Amino acid sequence: MSERPSAADSARLLRQRVEMGGGEVFLDGMTRAEAMAMTASARRGTPPPEKVPAATAPAPRSPAASPAVRSRPVPATPKGPSGGAAAAAPADAWALPDNYAELREIALSCTRCRLAEGRTQVVFSDGPSDARLMVVGEAPGANEDETGLPFVGAAGKYLDLLLATVGLSRAESVYIANVLKCRPPANRNPLPNEIEACSPLLRKQIELVKPEALLAVGSFSGQLLTGREKVALGELRGEVHTYHGVPLIVTYHPAALLRNPKWTRAFWDDLQLLRGVIDGA
Ligand code: URA
Repeated sequence: MSERPSAADSARLLRQRVEMGGGEVFLDGMTRAEAMAMTASARRGTPPPEKVPAATAPAPRSPAASPAVRSRPVPATPKGPSGGAAAAAPADAWALPDNYAELREIALSCTRCRLAEGRTQVVFSDGPSDARLMVVGEAPGANEDETGLPFVGAAGKYLDLLLATVGLSRAESVYIANVLKCRPPANRNPLPNEIEACSPLLRKQIELVKPEALLAVGSFSGQLLTGREKVALGELRGEVHTYHGVPLIVTYHPAALLRNPKWTRAFWDDLQLLRGVIDGA
């Protein structure tokens, strides 16, 4: 069964949001016409017209028609912590291989925490392992546990759409992983001991994928990757952090946007920041 959303499905979702919120509620300051232009551009998989983000976009967008992100020409190499203590990896005794396939094998049979008992499948990643952008979410939900792929439910469809609005095609240029690789029971929040047990896998994934940019969606991944565990997401978003030399943007989780559409404007601004980072890479 393929749960991969089509662009049309995603655009329909966004359109419903626009219609429910009359534009203003959905995009908080963006007119209905602008919101619909964003929907149309998402459907085409191209960036929205320059004038759509111009009202609030904080970062200059390079080429008006920012091309869909292509295969990465030059892999970026993490340069080690550049954000001080925030970017430093904790001491970790789990010696993980530098070989991607081996890492994946280890993850798929991991029993380091109790989540292994309740899972259907380990959800390791989706997308090309040489992608320029890596998105980091929280943990698999029921759909992901079932399919073994991250972000395949409603939040994932919405994420695909939102990424498409800045010319990022999930299938071609985005690698997605989560802080936790196994589903917490009843979708509860990850526990600190689960994050501690599982995060070495994520750190190694980042090291091996070597993305040019990281997008952390939600507070669990944002706090983990910035090392600012007590800081609210609202304070982490809206700026470019670094994780071992890789530019990192923290923003809302798409599931939170579905519940609170008024945050979509902020997410949109963060995507402009991301696009600027990728264009400048
Ligand atoms: N939410 C996440 O954070 N990750 C998924 O894979 C699905 C939903």
